[in-house]
Amino acid sequence: MTTQTGFRLPARPIGRLKDGVKAAHVIVVGNEKGGAGKSTVAMHLAIALLRMGKSVGAIDLDIRQRSFGRYLANRQAWSDKHGVALPRPEEIRLSPSAHRDLDLAEAEETERFSEALIHLKQTHDFVIIDSPGADTHYSRLAHSTADSVITPINDSFIDFDLLAEIDPDTYEVGRPSIYSEMLWECRKRKAAMEKRSIDWVVMRNRMTMVDARNKRRVGEGLKMLSQRIGFRLAPGFAERVIYRELFPVGLTLLDLTEDGSTIPFTMSHVAARQELRDLIIVLKLPGLEGQAIPF
Ligand SMILES: Nc1ncnc2c1ncn2[C@@H]1O[C@H](COP(=O)(O)OP(=O)(O)OP(=O)(O)O)[C@@H](O)[C@H]1O
Ligand SMILES: [Mg+2]
Repeated sequence: MTTQTGFRLPARPIGRLKDGVKAAHVIVVGNEKGGAGKSTVAMHLAIALLRMGKSVGAIDLDIRQRSFGRYLANRQAWSDKHGVALPRPEEIRLSPSAHRDLDLAEAEETERFSEALIHLKQTHDFVIIDSPGADTHYSRLAHSTADSVITPINDSFIDFDLLAEIDPDTYEVGRPSIYSEMLWECRKRKAAMEKRSIDWVVMRNRMTMVDARNKRRVGEGLKMLSQRIGFRLAPGFAERVIYRELFPVGLTLLDLTEDGSTIPFTMSHVAARQELRDLIIVLKLPGLEGQAIPF
């Protein structure tokens, strides 16, 4: 099926289980710009859900960089080295099709993705998919199967145009971005084929102490956009050096008090955990209603 924006998606829903069968809630972390914090958010969300007693499946669709997959591998290495068992999601690795013919390549990737997703949906409470900062067939497939999409946007140079054209003075909203249109198509398709919706949540990441006026303007711009293109806004994560220190050791903010961790746990990290908690609350994920967050 070729959609209005030219995205080719298979004519059938992907990774759908029979009605009445318990299936995991699928969370896709995506945007099409690099470095906004997708892999960091995917990892923190996965570990947070595990620490809340949920089982989690994970797919890293960033075939080139594999940051999420490498983050998980670093975690395993840290566990092995320190003899400390850390919660880990079940990860499925997908490789790109080697077919040179585009139709054959897409068909093969659709098969691989579908098989992985069905397995993870049947065996876990949540599936977290980290998508690449580029438009790929895998990424489109993932968005079409999402129950929730989280889009981190880089706050240091607010990426409005990732979402839509916006007049910097009047905030008049123009054409939605290709990414917003793609998500719109995925939503329409999911509503038509599965009678379900996709909850799209945008969060600011790497927030810094900008002046109050600028902060207010960014907030107003995002609010306008959220109404026009249909997403919810989550409170974001501040800019903190800790995130860069955590990746190579495979730890998250929630692991700093484990035996073997040499990263001191500071007030900044307490505040960062609060931001993660706030994100989880705003996401309103199924099965977590009223549940205490143990971190
Ligand atoms: N809140 C933050 N404060 C400081 N550094 C951060 C924050 N969030 C992410 N980073 C750092 O920014 C870099 C990019 O983050 P990340 O890899 O999560 O982005 P991404 O969107 O997955 O990138 P890509 O599009 O390349 O996959 C990483 O070095 C990460 O540690
Ligand atoms: Mg990434």
